[in-house]
Amino acid sequence: MTTSEPLIRLANVTKVYPMGPRSYTALRGVDLDIGAGEFVALIGPSGSGKSTILNMITGIDKPTAGTVTVNGVRIDRLGENALARWRGQNIGIVFQFFQLLPTLTALENVILPMDLRGMHRGKRREQALEHLHLVGLEDHAGHLPSEMSGGEQQRVAIARALANDPPILIADEPTGNLDTGTGERIIDILTELHRRGKTVVMVTHEPYIALLAERVLQVQDGLVVERERP
Ligand SMILES: Nc1ncnc2c1ncn2[C@@H]1O[C@H](COP(=O)(O)OP(=O)(O)OP(=O)(O)O)[C@@H](O)[C@H]1O
Ligand SMILES: [Mg+2]
Repeated sequence: MTTSEPLIRLANVTKVYPMGPRSYTALRGVDLDIGAGEFVALIGPSGSGKSTILNMITGIDKPTAGTVTVNGVRIDRLGENALARWRGQNIGIVFQFFQLLPTLTALENVILPMDLRGMHRGKRREQALEHLHLVGLEDHAGHLPSEMSGGEQQRVAIARALANDPPILIADEPTGNLDTGTGERIIDILTELHRRGKTVVMVTHEPYIALLAERVLQVQDGLVVERERP
């Protein structure tokens, strides 16, 4: 990657979903550059294309046309296996509904996505505990998701997103299922991770949360518009 290239670049990205005989265009030629170390909030009405944009950045979904370059790699060209391996190293994802595995403890959930190549069991455990410590839940390591509050589960999900220490964190409405106070704790943690150098891209419906980001992008009818800060 040359230094002039942004960490994340979507160029003329279109996404068309087939819908029987008709089709639905969710993204209509999105151009978007996000630099290393930025903290970006995506806002916009329901159905405008926010999650679809995140899915392009994570490679969870592929564009119909256009290119997606992340950390120097054209991820729209990668096959499933290469993409999964690439994602594990480069991107941590936090979802609205946590998506922890219910039969695994907090510690096991954090260890699960760790790259198993060349890392000893004890070392993995030590790192997972470090990530849990960062979200303030070291003492919950042995708890199952059902034994934790929503906010605690989301903090475990953030620790899991850190498993392989990826440069990029993607969060789709990470506070959407939490009350305001609990949500603030989540945002504090994401802000702290940004301060430590992570590039954070977050979708939120909360205007006050969007204001904590460095940059606010409005998604409207499948296009992205830069918002002036008030
Ligand atoms: N797999 C799919 N098949 C068909 N249409 C889809 C699919 N996924 C998303 N869409 C459509 O694409 C549009 C954008 O969806 P997207 O999930 O990106 O919206 P969003 O901005 O994240 O909305 P919300 O705030 O409700 O989460 C919506 O109209 C949605 O119905
Ligand atoms: Mg969405």
